[in-house]
Amino acid sequence: MAIYTGLIDHYRARLPIDDDMQVISLVEGRTALIRLNNIPLIIDKGIELYVKFEGLNPTGSFKDRGMTMAVTRAVSEGSRAIICASTGNTSASAAAYAARAGITAFVLIPEGKIALGKLAQAMMKGAVVIQIEGNYDDGMRLVKEVAAEAPVSIVNSINPYRLQGQKTAAFEIVDELGRAPDYHCLPVGNAGNISAYWIGYSEYAGEKTRVLAFAEGECPYNCEKQTDTRPKMLGYQASGAAPFLRGAFVDGPETVATAIRIGHPQSWDLAWHASRESGGWFDEFSDEEILATQKLLAEKEGIFCEPASAISLAGALRDIRSGRIEKQSCVTCTLTGHGLKDPDTAIQQSSAPVIKTAASLEQVKRAILDNIS
Ligand code: F0G
Repeated sequence: MAIYTGLIDHYRARLPIDDDMQVISLVEGRTALIRLNNIPLIIDKGIELYVKFEGLNPTGSFKDRGMTMAVTRAVSEGSRAIICASTGNTSASAAAYAARAGITAFVLIPEGKIALGKLAQAMMKGAVVIQIEGNYDDGMRLVKEVAAEAPVSIVNSINPYRLQGQKTAAFEIVDELGRAPDYHCLPVGNAGNISAYWIGYSEYAGEKTRVLAFAEGECPYNCEKQTDTRPKMLGYQASGAAPFLRGAFVDGPETVATAIRIGHPQSWDLAWHASRESGGWFDEFSDEEILATQKLLAEKEGIFCEPASAISLAGALRDIRSGRIEKQSCVTCTLTGHGLKDPDTAIQQSSAPVIKTAASLEQVKRAILDNIS
């Protein structure tokens, strides 16, 4: 049995990678596709519902898929430094792959608005962390400006190789299910990921779609067909940061799901294209609904994702309940990041009892007998 060495090696024939490039990898990808069993709604409607748990990537989010590609390309082009703006996960991933490659990562983050776990990752891995008095959209603007004047490669998803790496998640889903799902649900922030999945599903269906950096419809590598169908792409946003629902960019975005606290998505056109071409839709959720779904998933299925990720399941469940997602469908939701990224938000909203007792058998036994169901 061949050892799995990461998504570039695994999907090499379908990626813009040359044989002589040194691959920078942390053995990302091949994440678990977990079938949900315990949510009554899906059982009643005969829905096959899966979550693709991207929190199982090396730095705990889907960003590693794009980062292995972006950093491999940057290093092969002789770059000694990379830069990104980030709500946290991109910076954690950039820091890791830069460390692996022996180059420098500069990360711009919005002051006070990134989850603690993500900041810890960037700091531990030796990135130069630049906290700006502004939000993600300000950071993105600054990154583009500074990269025009300093020798640094941008590794945000405006870098076309990021989406190329991220499209492999769609490949994995089809490889595992033996077919494309009927619906695919995702959180939408900068809108790179929904665009990347659509590229992946399209390439596997032998269909041409819009791809960054390559002429429209052109596929510079193996685009051999693997499946007959493509899913409808369903994108969900937090109400306080929902430009796709407003039909225009939003200034001053706000949400508890800091990962998707973005008002000016960089992949605006590509995401609209994915939504329309697939026959999908966008919808929005309040912070309360997002957190309730994060908790539901943890309590009912034992899967702990971060708040932004839970919005994909919130969307699936609402649309299953309303009948917008048809009965007997196969539905996949991407859980973009691990719950451990943001322990503060989790603990704040957790109602699980923490019982304090003396260290005595009697009292511990009482606590058990009082709470056994
Ligand atoms: N979920 C998580 C956990 C994220 O970190 C992000 C984006 C998204 C969803 C949205 O994905 O931007 O492709 O639509 N995080 C970026 C970052 C912006 O800087 O880590 P998208």
